[in-house]
Amino acid sequence: MGQILELDKPIDWHTHLRWDERTKIVLPHSARVFSAVEVMPNAKDPDTGKMVVDSKTVAKYKKYLQSVLAETMGSDYEFEFIMSLYLTDKTDIQDLKSGYRDGLFKAVKMYPLGATTGSDAGISEVKNVAHVLEVMSELGIPLLIHPEMSPSKEMNILESESIFVNSTLSWIRKNFSNLKIVVEHVTTKESLKFVLENSNTWGTITPQHLLFNHNAIFEGGLQPDMYCLPLLKQIEHQKYLNDNLFKAIVLDKLALGTDTAPHMSKDKYKPCGCAGVFSAPVALEAYYQAFKNNLGNDNELIKVAMQRFAHILLPVYGINLEDLPKRDISLLKSSWQVPKEYEGITPMFAGQTLEVKALNE
Ligand code: NCD
Ligand code: ZN
Repeated sequence: MGQILELDKPIDWHTHLRWDERTKIVLPHSARVFSAVEVMPNAKDPDTGKMVVDSKTVAKYKKYLQSVLAETMGSDYEFEFIMSLYLTDKTDIQDLKSGYRDGLFKAVKMYPLGATTGSDAGISEVKNVAHVLEVMSELGIPLLIHPEMSPSKEMNILESESIFVNSTLSWIRKNFSNLKIVVEHVTTKESLKFVLENSNTWGTITPQHLLFNHNAIFEGGLQPDMYCLPLLKQIEHQKYLNDNLFKAIVLDKLALGTDTAPHMSKDKYKPCGCAGVFSAPVALEAYYQAFKNNLGNDNELIKVAMQRFAHILLPVYGINLEDLPKRDISLLKSSWQVPKEYEGITPMFAGQTLEVKALNE
């Protein structure tokens, strides 16, 4: 097996690990190839039914994740969970300040109400949380944003992100120019342009929004495994994202964030099926494919770009690379077939043969 390139401590800046029986199925896939992951807070505490909306719940969720890590990877396996707090209309300022000071979380996530899976506790009107944004701006806490409007029958769902960028996001930028903003999973020209043109703004991008456009949802019949939010977009957006991928990385603006979002396949293949692509088992392989599509066969250049892509948000979050667990990941030339499922969860590229494999050595 020939080595294509090696990555030092890659980090996934957007991961869903859940808080139920799915966690032990999905967590090892992230822990195997990443040094750390940014954990999204739209997970439901099984005892209280609450999302990760206060610092006590953040601490409890992290403890749960650490216990599943020990159970699945062994008690001495090192892996870092970078926690975030779920922003709601009721976020308590004192709790925000003390939780951040105590290092319980490193960022705050904003979901517009109803915009995606687990956003029922999201914010109904951005002005309601202006006082929270003010404090975050003062303390330097990054705001992670799901950049879509709450659903409405009058709005074209394919325009949900661009409308959000031109309304809510622009309002936040105008009123809080020092606030650090990470626009999560950019899928459109408008959101990537916003990130490139503004200061104190960064983005993450998923492998599926680079590799596919919305045709993939309908190819040969309805494909629930390609249904995620934000939706895969039109070809021109996919092209813009790819054309600007390298530039955005060179400018330190765009980071690796898989948005791996596992749902049991039975919950995706039913009426009103869930949104989310489970990409963790093939994440680095998929990104490599996207980089190769854009940069050709220059593996030295791809290595530099992917390495930078995986570390861009470290200074934004105030994390030192040296403090993260060691993880050397090799991408090797090796043919393998992606399993059709992992205990009832269908991964991206299920059943397909890939020519590259990411190995932890
Ligand atoms: C995510 C999930 O399932 O938690 N789904 C998705 O399609 N990406 C939520 C999200 O990040 O929007
Ligand atoms: Zn997500």
